Amino acid sequence: MRLRNDQPDSTNQPAAELLFGDWYPAMRVADLGKGSMHTTLLLGIPLVLGRKHTGELFALRDLCPHRGIPLSSGWFDGNTIQCRYHGWRFEPCTGQCTEIPSLTQIDTLQPTKIYAGAYPCREQDGYVWVYLPTPGMGRITDITVLPPVPEVPKFSTRYREAHLTADLPCNVDHGIIGLMDPAHGPFVHRSWWWRSAASIHEKTKRFEPLPEGFRMTAHAPSANSAPYKLLGVYGEKIETTIDFTLPNRRVETIRAGHGETAKWFSSLTTVTPVTPSTCRIDVAAAWNIFYNVPLVPQIAKYFGARFVQQDQETMVQQAEGLRYRPAMMLIDDADKPAKWYFALKQRRLAGTGDHPLPVPVELHWRS
Ligand code: FES
Ligand SMILES: [Fe+2]
Repeated sequence: MRLRNDQPDSTNQPAAELLFGDWYPAMRVADLGKGSMHTTLLLGIPLVLGRKHTGELFALRDLCPHRGIPLSSGWFDGNTIQCRYHGWRFEPCTGQCTEIPSLTQIDTLQPTKIYAGAYPCREQDGYVWVYLPTPGMGRITDITVLPPVPEVPKFSTRYREAHLTADLPCNVDHGIIGLMDPAHGPFVHRSWWWRSAASIHEKTKRFEPLPEGFRMTAHAPSANSAPYKLLGVYGEKIETTIDFTLPNRRVETIRAGHGETAKWFSSLTTVTPVTPSTCRIDVAAAWNIFYNVPLVPQIAKYFGARFVQQDQETMVQQAEGLRYRPAMMLIDDADKPAKWYFALKQRRLAGTGDHPLPVPVELHWRS
C-alpha cells in the first residue's frame, strides 16, 4: 500500500503537535543522483531536495520567495535552480538568489540579499537528514551549533545495511506509541517465525532515563523469538538495549562480544511527521552477523518488511477509527512508555518541566 507522501493530506486524521528544531530523515540518498531533484513533505513543509554536480546535497523550501510557485517546477542545471515564473536563479545549498533577469542598469535591488529557504542537510546511513528549525528562528548560518545527526550504532568496520520505509496514515504520536508498544506484538506480529498469541508470558523490563528519552536496559532477548535464538550460536552473552529519544528515534542494539570479533545487529527506526496528521516509518539497520552467508541480507529484508507491513496494516485500520476522534486510554504498565513519550514531548514544547522517569524503574506486562 502506497500513500501519496508529497501532497497535503486529506485523511481527516487528528493533527499532532510537531517538534521543530531537530533532524528528520527526508528521503533515501540512493534516490538522489547528481543533477537530480525530488520533492517531499516534512512536518508539513514542502521541500525540494537535490544533489549538485559537485556532489553537494541541498534541501530548499519548495516555494519561490518571489511569488510562491514551487521551485521544483523550474530548472536545475546541476549547479543552480531557476524559477520557471520570472527566472530568478538560486544557489540551492545556501538559497541565495544570484540573478533576477528583469533588473535593468538603473535598478538598485541586490539579488544576492534575497534568499530562498534553505535547510541544513546531511547524508547518514542511507538517508538525507534535514534540520528543520523552529519557525521564526531565521536562516541558520552556523551548522556547528546544531545537534548531531542521528546514526545507527556500529561495532565493527565491516557490516551490511538494509532500509525499509512505510507511509502511515495516522499522526506521528500514534506512529511512535505504536513503535514502543509491547502489548501488540503477539497479535499484530503473530507468525510461525516470530511468536504466537499462545506464547504470551509475563515479562519484567528495566527502564532508565536518558536526557530526552529512556532506555530499556540490557537483558537477554525474548526467549520466544526464533531470530534471537539464532544469535545464540556464538555462545556469548547477548546484550540488547532499546533506546527511545525525542523527537522520534528508537535505537535497538543486539550485541554478543566486544571488539572486531563482536557479533551485532543495530537498527534506527524513526517515525517522521509528513504532515501534522500523517507520518512515515523508516528503518535503517546494520549488522555483521552471518556476514559471509549468501542471501542473509535479502532474507533479513524480507522478514523486516513483513514486520513493518504488519504494523502498517494495523495502523491503516486504526486510522479508520481515529477519523471519529475517539477518546484514548493509556494503561499501566504496558502503555507506560507511551505516557513517558507524551510527557517528554510536552516538556520539550514547554521548554521546562521534570523528566517523567527520574530514576530507573521496572515495568511488568504480558506479551
Ligand atoms: S515566482 Fe519565482 S521568479 Fe517570480
Ligand atoms: Fe509492531
